[in-house]
This record gives sequence, C-alpha cells and structure tokens, in this order.
Amino acid sequence: MDDFFKLDGITVQFGGLVAVHRFSLHLEEGERVGLIGPNGAGKTTVFNIVSGFLAPGSGKVYWKGNDITGRPVHEITRLGIARTFQNIRLFPDMTVLENVMVSFHHKLRSHFWQAMFGLPSYRREESLLKSEAMTYLEELGLSHLSAERAGSLPYGQQRRLEIARALAIRPGLLLLDEPVAGMNPSESLETAQLILDLQRKYPLTVFLIEHDMKFVMQLCERIKVLDYGHTIAEGTPAEIQQDPLVLKAYLGGACVC
Ligand SMILES: Nc1ncnc2c1ncn2[C@@H]1O[C@H](COP(=O)(O)OP(=O)(O)O)[C@@H](O)[C@H]1O
Ligand SMILES: [Mg+2]
Repeated sequence: MDDFFKLDGITVQFGGLVAVHRFSLHLEEGERVGLIGPNGAGKTTVFNIVSGFLAPGSGKVYWKGNDITGRPVHEITRLGIARTFQNIRLFPDMTVLENVMVSFHHKLRSHFWQAMFGLPSYRREESLLKSEAMTYLEELGLSHLSAERAGSLPYGQQRRLEIARALAIRPGLLLLDEPVAGMNPSESLETAQLILDLQRKYPLTVFLIEHDMKFVMQLCERIKVLDYGHTIAEGTPAEIQQDPLVLKAYLGGACVC
C-alpha cells in the first residue's frame, strides 16, 4: 500500500541549527525500518515530528493517505501511532499495570461520576480494560510484575513496559526510540525476538532508532542513516554495512557490524 505512511521533505530548525534537513521516508504496512546515525544526528527529532511533539518547519506527514502534519499528540495517538522514549517516561510511583492502564484513558466511555461512585457500568469497563492491559504485559513477559512499582524495575524491563504501554493504544505504527539501550546482548536479542513475535500477533509496522548495530541489522528490513540532519544512506542492512559514507560517519572507516 503506497500511502500507508509517508514523511515528505521534513525540515526542523532550532534557532540556527538545522536538526533535520528534508527528511523523506515511506513505510509499507508491516515493515520494520531502522533509523541510525551518530548522537545529535536528528533521529529523535524525526520521531517527535511523527508523534506530534513537534511541528516541522516545512514538510508533510501522511498517515493512511491523510495529511497529519502538526496534529497534537493525543490526536496522533488516537489515529494509531504510538511511541516509546529514549529517556524512559513511565510513572515511576504507579504500578506496572497502572502504567499500561493510563493508555486507555481516552477509551473509557464511562463518565467521571460513574467512576467516582463505582457504578457497575464503570467497574465492568474497567475490568475489561484491566484484562486487556494484562495481555500486553504477558506479551512483554511482565505480567508477574503487574503489582510492582514501575520505578523499581530494572532498566531493561522498564523499556519493555514502555512497549506494553504503547501496544495498549492498539497502534498501526510503533516508533521505538533506542529500545535496547542499556540492555545486555542476551536481553537485546530477546527483545528483537519479542518484536518479531508481536508483529505476528498484531498488525504492526515498526520504525525504530537504535545504536546497537547487531540488533538493527538483524531486525530491520531497511535502514536510513542520518548525519547532522542529512540522510546520507538508505538501503538493506547489507548495503548499509558497506556504504562508505556510513562507515565514515560512524566509525571513521571501520565496519558497521
Ligand atoms: N527541543 C530542542 N531544542 C533545541 N535543540 C534541540 C531540541 N531537540 C533536539 N535539539 C538538537 O537537535 C539535534 C538533533 O537532536 P536529536 O534529534 O535528539 O538527535 P539524535 O536523537 O539523533 O541523537 C541536536 O543537536 C540537539 O541538540
Ligand atoms: Mg535520540
């Protein structure tokens, strides 16, 4: 489907700094595409544009054929685009389960007063959503931790909880900003497997940023490379690993593998 998701000539400027320069991307439904590049290259800024945290100076964002450029975060979320954050953004003092439940607030049909008086319609709805939230925790291997404080989980599990919370909006497009940062190699391998499993169960298109090259190369079908806001390469993992500009930007010439 040609018009599933498209970024067209996105440019973002912060004062005199051009953080992203004419960035374009087209995603097909069900794809896994990676965005890589050195620190400060503009990767998170691209995610901020897609998810509505920032509006671009110029360029357009299209989702399922509609122009969604500059729409606010809650609308973009409702349209089925979910994200996780490079700097984890959980509610540390809430439980693991509650952190997933917050994603449902826009879905609750019951009124504030119904909730306040604990009316049966509210309790029914709440218990259905609870069991849906538990399903996502199970998918991420976190259901046994549902009553724990989110802030007490180790780093790797917090990253997974962010994915569970993102799933709760039933996204069509999932943006993962450094999903395995801080994980050891076996946790990172497990997370790659988990993402593949999720794609078998849910209609997910995955767009991810990651520095762990092994993870990106194994998981992504296509990769884009940013450097100082400019797209310097684009291709399959095999093509990217041999691209001279990429080797230069990343490692001053060594192999990206
Ligand atoms: N809100 C902001 N205000 C000013 N500068 C920003 C802001 N967000 C990002 N930048 C700058 O834009 C550039 C790209 O940042 P970012 O997208 O976070 O890079 P990456 O995720 O590739 O490391 C960096 O130079 C960063 O300092
Ligand atoms: Mg970043």
